[in-house]
Amino acid sequence: MVKELSKAAYQILQKNWKNGFTIPTSKLYPFQWNWDSGFTSIGFSHFNLDYAIQELQSLFSGQWENGMVPHIIFHSEKETTYFPNYDFWNANVNAGAPNKPKTSGITQPAVHGFVLENLLNKFPDNEKLLAFTKDIFPKIVKSHRWFYQYRDPKREGLTFIYHPWESGRDNSPLWDESMDRTIVNKDELPNYTRRDTSIMAADERPTSYQYDRYVYLLELGKKYKYDEQGIFEESPFLIQDTLMNAVLIKSNQSLINIGKRLGLDVKEIEEWQQQAKPRYIEKLWNTDLETFTVFDLRGEHAVLHKEIGGLSALYAEIPNMDQAQKMNQYLWDLHQRGFFICPSFDVDSILFDSKRYWRGPIWPQMNWMIYHGLEAYGYYDTSKIVQSDLIKLVSQLGFYEYFESQKELVPHLKTGYGGSDFSWTAACTIDLLME
Ligand code: GLC
Repeated sequence: MVKELSKAAYQILQKNWKNGFTIPTSKLYPFQWNWDSGFTSIGFSHFNLDYAIQELQSLFSGQWENGMVPHIIFHSEKETTYFPNYDFWNANVNAGAPNKPKTSGITQPAVHGFVLENLLNKFPDNEKLLAFTKDIFPKIVKSHRWFYQYRDPKREGLTFIYHPWESGRDNSPLWDESMDRTIVNKDELPNYTRRDTSIMAADERPTSYQYDRYVYLLELGKKYKYDEQGIFEESPFLIQDTLMNAVLIKSNQSLINIGKRLGLDVKEIEEWQQQAKPRYIEKLWNTDLETFTVFDLRGEHAVLHKEIGGLSALYAEIPNMDQAQKMNQYLWDLHQRGFFICPSFDVDSILFDSKRYWRGPIWPQMNWMIYHGLEAYGYYDTSKIVQSDLIKLVSQLGFYEYFESQKELVPHLKTGYGGSDFSWTAACTIDLLME
């Protein structure tokens, strides 16, 4: 079973490989996505280390002069089936955006530090990988520096996002209040046509109300030439996100580990880390909810929901033992109550929707991170369930983008949700099967 499933997964990665990089899935996402390609690289490394390396190289070919790694790299300018395409982003209003490849103007979770460490742990003596590490290490450090320099103007040790797409969790209910605060005057919004809902079922996708606001925030970025200061002052959406910061902290740690191993200077990274980790606990832990919550900088309050980003702190080993124990208990209870773990949003909230994208389903790459987090704390019973739940879903429903989280509904389903033959689903399955 393991052999067959990982073979099928590898075939998907090969199918989605476009001569130097991997698309998440054909039709819906026909370019290279930032954090997707990190997980894909890990998946590829089991079969083809060259591709794993090239995947990251291609991504960083889109890095901006200021250090930002964009969330989409449009390697082909001929592919016109996606909205918003490179011309709509018009990233070149920023003088530091590359002309080729074209890119979007926002970022995504900074997975690349921990991805690199994952590859190095697998192939500690591989000459090609070591040479690649020396080349990419300063680029990853530069991308972290960008976060702390431009996305943390008050020097708190916590970075902000100004667009839901940056969080990787596009339509999470976490953003609802900020979306409502974003007043959109339809006459001032450029005309646009969504492509996603002509490819996917509309009830699995963000609503048009949300899409108008995504476009509004994109326009806001463009208006300021994607320069953070103006955006920070004006954006109605301004969030210190649990997942973004946890991933950054995890990758900081990986860079420190790699740097020490290879005799590289890590002082600056250690300074970021010394501030970020305690600040994360201090500002984002919520005693009543027993989880980490995102902070709305514009509204100046914590957003009181339990959801998957808070749990990702386990992967960065941020929680103390008591906090980790509470988070583990929460996941264990969900398991006992008949849910696959980990649902992306609080199953007891009226906003929970087990089908609609980031409002409740299971996401493979989140399971991958939380599996490793639980292992790090020694919660092996729960980690094994997180691992086997994903493998069960993939075996029964295929390599889809995301999955139903209510166990009782799965026997009535023929497939998962969203895009099929999905790269990070294949990649995370391979890696979890090999554990
Ligand atoms: C969606 C997801 C995002 C992902 C992208 C490509 O926008 O929300 O996390 O990176 O699709 O798969």
